[in-house]
Amino acid sequence: MKQTVQTLQEKKLRGEKISMLTCYDYSTAKLMDSTGLDMLLVGDSLGNVILGYEDTISVTMEDMIHHTAAVARGAKQAMVVADMPFLSYQTSVYDAMVNAGRLMKEGRAGAVKLEGGQVVTEQIQAIVNASIPVVAHLGMTPQSVNTLGGFKVQGKSLEAARKLLADAKAVEEAGAFAVVLECVPEKLAALVTKTLSIPTIGIGAGAGCDGQVLVYQDMLGMFSDYQPKFVRKFADAGTLMRDAFLLYQQEVQNGNFPAKEHNFAISDDVMKQLEQEELQ
Ligand code: KIV
Repeated sequence: MKQTVQTLQEKKLRGEKISMLTCYDYSTAKLMDSTGLDMLLVGDSLGNVILGYEDTISVTMEDMIHHTAAVARGAKQAMVVADMPFLSYQTSVYDAMVNAGRLMKEGRAGAVKLEGGQVVTEQIQAIVNASIPVVAHLGMTPQSVNTLGGFKVQGKSLEAARKLLADAKAVEEAGAFAVVLECVPEKLAALVTKTLSIPTIGIGAGAGCDGQVLVYQDMLGMFSDYQPKFVRKFADAGTLMRDAFLLYQQEVQNGNFPAKEHNFAISDDVMKQLEQEELQ
């Protein structure tokens, strides 16, 4: 069954958890989609884990469209959510609508995600009015790393917690159908989850959220530049992949690969004729 805004809302009402992972390419999307994951997020974290930047600031609309289209081709049942990259929506409501539209039309996303609370409610309203579902993103918002002073837990003081709760209410009011809470104390995230009628999806925000999201390279142990505290390694695919790359390198070097069964045949008559022609 294809996941929609409505099926995800019903999950919250039934108290069923929503599962989301980041995804950036077709073959991974097919694998993830076959497991029944509810949502695939083409996160601008692709700037870190795919493109090797130290933050998400340099990610472009072209990067996002390119990867969203690949994921959308592989996802038949999961909802594909595309991140709006830095300065694709903060600059104006017009920019926000044009760029959200491109992620839908060219990337074939099912929804877009943008960072921020009260400051982006006009953008959220306009995008939703254009019939594009919006996921909001609060707490540690990586596009604001330069004003937040680093990748830190958000909402710990009374003032900051009040602000986060007010932002959550504002994005719901503006029409967002879900909100990602990143690096938020678990009790505050649980209160936000209880207060809102739309689903919350946590990353470093505890089990009280309506759903969870992780960057897949983190949960597979494929990314070693840094390891956030909230990540659980569900498999050590990084070691598995490295071992396979090493074995391949060795087998090519020592001539064991390719073997007979990997080769294509040609008739001896054709070869004999060809060799004779070469000798003349
Ligand atoms: O870009 C991303 O991967 C995200 C998740 C961390 C929620 O926004």
